[in-house]
Amino acid sequence: MKKMIGKLMAVTLVVAMMCGLVACGGNEDAKKEEKKAEKIVLGTSADYPPFEFIVLDENKKQQYAGIDISLAKQIAEDMNAELEISNMNFDSLIAALQKGEVDMVISGVEKDGKREKVVDFSEAYYTDLPPMILIKADKKDTYTSAKSLEGKTIAAQSGTTKADIVNEEFKKSKLLALTSVTDIVNNLAYDKCDAVILDGAVAQQYAQENEDMVIADIALGEEAPYYVAVQKGDPKGILEDINKTIQNAKEKKLVDQWIDEADAKADEAVE
Ligand code: ARG
Repeated sequence: MKKMIGKLMAVTLVVAMMCGLVACGGNEDAKKEEKKAEKIVLGTSADYPPFEFIVLDENKKQQYAGIDISLAKQIAEDMNAELEISNMNFDSLIAALQKGEVDMVISGVEKDGKREKVVDFSEAYYTDLPPMILIKADKKDTYTSAKSLEGKTIAAQSGTTKADIVNEEFKKSKLLALTSVTDIVNNLAYDKCDAVILDGAVAQQYAQENEDMVIADIALGEEAPYYVAVQKGDPKGILEDINKTIQNAKEKKLVDQWIDEADAKADEAVE
């Protein structure tokens, strides 16, 4: 009898252990599921090829593309989270982040004193060329210095460091601040403004797409690093993961790959 009890106990133990193992496995899966269900919301202003823009896929459906979108996708993948993209005017992004409507902003964002007071920044993931001035090709010999733009209208996107440049360095020019870069470039096309200040790579992209537009021979500012912005104090605890993804992307030269992919697509940008 003693033996029987002993055997029974042993069997019970094995069964209990097996159950334990199974339960444990189940828990792991549940944990993963939980993580997978997490989503991360990106705030961006998709009017900025090659960084963020919209293309049509083979079914004529709008898709987001660009270097910043690739980075956002990688961040989400590394976090095992789903990526949701919220497209809005650039000048609404910081407020949306402060209100927690988006979890991170990736939109060719540079650091400046005003922004550093209200949001936190990751490490730099990319360094753009210095800002450039986009003008009509037939004005190439007219607009050759800041002085030549005195009294003229220079357009820039509202809420950007480029609008600040117009205010600070082109005091005798008029600023036309508009929320969408697409509208700004259209304004130049129809001579509603005389020049546009944009981040370097973006200005080059629009010059490449529009035969009647060129980059003016006027040197401006310095190279600008771009950062991912998160809520002040990082209440969602995502900044460390974001920095890990950035470091890894730089080491493995993923950023270069994203640049090539964006360059290949940017000509098809519908916005
Ligand atoms: N780099 C500039 C800034 O930080 C302009 C960025 C505009 N980005 C955009 N996606 N429209 O102010």
